[in-house]
Amino acid sequence: MEKLLVKGRKRLVGEVMISGAKNAAVAVLPAAIMAGGKSVLENLPNIEDVSCICNTIEKLGGKCIHKDKHTIEIDCSGGIDYCATFEEVQRIRASYYFLGALLARYKKAEVAMPGGCNFGKRPIDLHLKGFRALGATVEEECGFVRAYADKLVGAPIYMDQVSVGATINIMLAATMAEGVTTIENAAKEPHVVDTANYLNMMGANIKGAGTDVIRIIGVEKLNGAQYAIIPDQIEAGTYMIAAAITGGDVLVKNIIPKHMDSLTAKLVEMNVKMEEGDDSIRVMANKPLRGVNVKTMSYPGFPTDLQPQMAALLSICNGTSVITENVWENRYQYIEELCKLGAKVDINGRIATIEGIPHYQGAKVEATDLRAGAAMILAALAAEGTTQIDGVRYIDRGYEDVEMKLSALGADIQRVLDKG
Ligand code: EPU
Repeated sequence: MEKLLVKGRKRLVGEVMISGAKNAAVAVLPAAIMAGGKSVLENLPNIEDVSCICNTIEKLGGKCIHKDKHTIEIDCSGGIDYCATFEEVQRIRASYYFLGALLARYKKAEVAMPGGCNFGKRPIDLHLKGFRALGATVEEECGFVRAYADKLVGAPIYMDQVSVGATINIMLAATMAEGVTTIENAAKEPHVVDTANYLNMMGANIKGAGTDVIRIIGVEKLNGAQYAIIPDQIEAGTYMIAAAITGGDVLVKNIIPKHMDSLTAKLVEMNVKMEEGDDSIRVMANKPLRGVNVKTMSYPGFPTDLQPQMAALLSICNGTSVITENVWENRYQYIEELCKLGAKVDINGRIATIEGIPHYQGAKVEATDLRAGAAMILAALAAEGTTQIDGVRYIDRGYEDVEMKLSALGADIQRVLDKG
């Protein structure tokens, strides 16, 4: 078992390169299995979730050839199995994309129910409803989902709730359905657009990704394509908050500043100075920070995946801050851990009220999920003394070289093996 040891109160200064987006990579990789030819995917983050998806592709009979740390060639041209019911699949949430991709290519798919971070109910009913609307029969059976159809036929689909996963999954299946599909009330997240862009490079006909309505004209086959994944909006946000929480001065590079607008606006409101470049943002925090109110929403709203990191920052700002979590019904498990470092937070349903404290005090805490782990690191960076963070495996799912990137900025952070 590995853990992180962080000695806090070091000001972060310098530059950090942001990796490719986890949540785009875990959709684009399964999309690659739909092609009759090879794809070369660049700027993939070197993280556990990507390894897990690649292992799944290989177990299905496809080839994943690592060209370098961030480039993988996917070759499923010889055909692959349509059953992904093995253990790897249950480990991550995004394995649900194999349902849409296999259904598109083979008109049949069997996939184990997704796992991933545990923060309350994480249904996939909207995905399945979408597949049914395209003409598939969908059966749920002890731990896996089976979907099959003689043919998929395009249809108008209205999403009851904005869902990133359902939007992408239905888009995957509809790409190779007969006729036209429209997805209304679609998610607009950058990774929805990234997946659509990659599919279009493979020969798909998808318009409107990034708006509320996506229109897909089905095609018979897809070719492989060379494609570079977008930068990770959430990793970028985490380093921006790291700069702010340590009173630092950090240039966050290789990002799309537009994707950061909701966070940038909040940091400015808190008194952080920002300088935006073409593909970078410099974050400078040399004044006392004030608390603000934050409501998570689907894109372009404030991302739920930055909510725990923001709570870590708001806990040491002046005054009272209120966070409203509108996306997930139960994403405050980490608060108990933050309180071990001294945070004062009151939870009432989806609302967290945070009373600012002067500083954190190092303690032993647990990363209860991926973004919770990021929040623990951030709080530890600002804490007096040493913080021990357990549950590092969650952090490794989504953050590439986290301790190396932070050390390069001046943090005192070490990964050690816990022999006890
Ligand atoms: N929902 C349903 N039914 C469904 C699907 C979703 O009711 O069939 C509900 C969910 O319960 C939730 C809301 O809709 O309340 C939004 O869920 P969404 O489907 O958008 O989430 P997701 O696609 O499963 C992705 C990210 C999450 C991120 C959410 C919201 C991936 C692999 N995961 O999950 O990322 O929190 O969108 O932006 O893309 C993370 O990276 O740490 C992470 C958890």
